[in-house]
Amino acid sequence: MYDAGDHMKFGFPMAFTATVLLWTILEYGDQMKAAQHLAPALDALKWITDYLVNAHPSENVLYIQVGNPKDDHACWERPEDMKEKRPLTQVNTSTLGTEVAAETAAALASASLVFKSSDSA
Ligand SMILES: *[C@@H]1O[C@H](CO)[C@@H](O)[C@H](O)[C@H]1NC(C)=O
Repeated sequence: MYDAGDHMKFGFPMAFTATVLLWTILEYGDQMKAAQHLAPALDALKWITDYLVNAHPSENVLYIQVGNPKDDHACWERPEDMKEKRPLTQVNTSTLGTEVAAETAAALASASLVFKSSDSA
């Protein structure tokens, strides 16, 4: 999920959005199901939380951004046509990012509750 019309990916707002949507399912999943919104929400959240799991490839490393804000914000094109560099930014033991790591943990903890019965793996 991109930040805007460009191709930046920011982990913090993505994790926050996932946490809020997952918690919405925990609170209102029955009503969402009755309105036929639960399955599409679960599909979207599975994609996001898979991304967040893959953004954490090893202990004390979390990738929190894909892209270069200066280059990407000047570039509006289809993702399929994108040829710009895709630099990664991580937080780790020397460059800390407690807030984004905590929000990502909250998203994954919420996901564990939502997917516990349907997709525990
Ligand atoms: C830790 O993260 C910073 C910022 O993303 C990066 O510059 C640095 O290379 C990383 N450290 C290691 C050991 O990868």
